[in-house]
Amino acid sequence: MTIQTWTADLAAEQAMEDGHDLYWNRMIDLVAEPDLGAARVLDFGCNQGAFLRLLYARKPFAYGLGVDIARAAVEVAQHRRGSEPVDYRVVGELDEVAEVFDVAFSHEVAYLIEDIAAHARAIHARLVPGGVYYAAIGCHTDNPAWPEWSVEIPKMSNLPVFGRSLAQYADAFATAGFEVTARPFGLGDRFLRMDESEHPSRDYAERLAYVERVKTLFRLVRC
Ligand SMILES: C[S@@+](CC[C@H](N)C(=O)[O-])C[C@H]1O[C@@H](n2cnc3c(N)ncnc32)[C@H](O)[C@@H]1O
Repeated sequence: MTIQTWTADLAAEQAMEDGHDLYWNRMIDLVAEPDLGAARVLDFGCNQGAFLRLLYARKPFAYGLGVDIARAAVEVAQHRRGSEPVDYRVVGELDEVAEVFDVAFSHEVAYLIEDIAAHARAIHARLVPGGVYYAAIGCHTDNPAWPEWSVEIPKMSNLPVFGRSLAQYADAFATAGFEVTARPFGLGDRFLRMDESEHPSRDYAERLAYVERVKTLFRLVRC
């Protein structure tokens, strides 16, 4: 299955992209691998492709592939491609991807996947032994705002959302053959914008607590 856009239209996809820049930078801060120079990198749920371009600018890699089921977003990603060694592809199922990778990322995609066990197996199959999957997940049922978000997000998403606890994510990845570690996403030395971009809630204390304590970065090492 593929869709045209994840949000209503490309303007809304762009607004999401603008709001995610801070999080992507923070995720890159937290990449433990000192050098990705020889790495093949996958961005699962790449939308308009900006994360891989940012990653390449900060930590150059050998090859990157961004995949997404949103056709118009991937088209934008393809148009925006510069001289980076990056491809973007519309992919309904990861089975369609033949390449293998050293490092994979997904930022806020896991809660849109119905069968997380199958996703864990599919990423496992596309990582080399010792390969690492960084999965950022703020939309989970341990999030105190989840009862509200699980109602609000589907209003702007062309896909349904699936509520799972952090423990359920951890179990799914462990069962698929990953060594599972995780940490609060946090801000490090970065500052969060206190305006209405990106975050559904206008409660600023909640917003800060969300990044520091709720949003979680899994680091999953393929055994
Ligand atoms: C919340 S957006 C996040 C996009 C991007 N990772 C970011 O950080 O801005 C979720 C993205 O995941 C994509 N997506 C959802 N389910 C997917 C699937 N099964 N395979 C590939 N992409 C998927 C959506 O189309 C959308 O672009």
